Amino acid sequence: MKPLIAGNWKMYKTPSEAEIFASELKKISKFEDRDVLVCPPFTAIGCVSRILAGTGIYVGAQNVYPAKEGAFTGEVSPSMLREAGAQFVICGHSERRHIFKESDDFISEKVKIVLEYKMSPILCIGETLDQNEKGETFSVVEKQLVTGLKNISVDDMKSVVIAYEPVWAIGTGKNATPQQAQAVHAFVREVLRKTYGDVASSVRILYGGSVKPENIDELMAEKDINGVLVGGASLKFESFSRIVGFNKK
Ligand code: PGA
Repeated sequence: MKPLIAGNWKMYKTPSEAEIFASELKKISKFEDRDVLVCPPFTAIGCVSRILAGTGIYVGAQNVYPAKEGAFTGEVSPSMLREAGAQFVICGHSERRHIFKESDDFISEKVKIVLEYKMSPILCIGETLDQNEKGETFSVVEKQLVTGLKNISVDDMKSVVIAYEPVWAIGTGKNATPQQAQAVHAFVREVLRKTYGDVASSVRILYGGSVKPENIDELMAEKDINGVLVGGASLKFESFSRIVGFNKK
């Protein structure tokens, strides 16, 4: 399966800064054997999509509100995102779960509506440091996965991307070792196999949490790591282009 290298810009870059950066990204070397995605803030999705049109680099959103339209002040709908150029939507990022108290059920509504609007959800899962130390990683990840994918059909599952991001590794500089990540990714695939059968083998499972040029090659060498979701290191051309150009073993 084709790996996916995704950049999550979080709340960085104004539209004009995003335009400059997107123009730089056009210089990224093209690889036939991997997909590249950037997820700017809402206000920059339109301009980044226009600049990157025809480059093969996908554009996505970092969040969505799970309704067609309505009186939801401050929220953004799936059709707004799609029309602006988004083809992927990050759902349930740990910052949404922890800062904005999003529940697994609410996140599952997002996953569902993103699929209805023919975009690909990137469902983020991952345990906190406390849960990790208590040995709860697998049970936490399984619950987030099963609830987040509630009512998703086998056919829809083909468009879903999973991102395993241990909360203790996000923005901290501490990444999971490739072996730790591989163990969780293999578990995630097993959980998916129980419900979705063979489709599980083709679901892309990304790793996220302090991915940088120094650790990308060893992470991507693991069998069940099918790409990465990159925060901090996706904001600069040099580091992001190096990550996109990871060495395939
Ligand atoms: P980081 O963020 O790469 O800065 O750790 C990853 C993420 O939050 O998706």
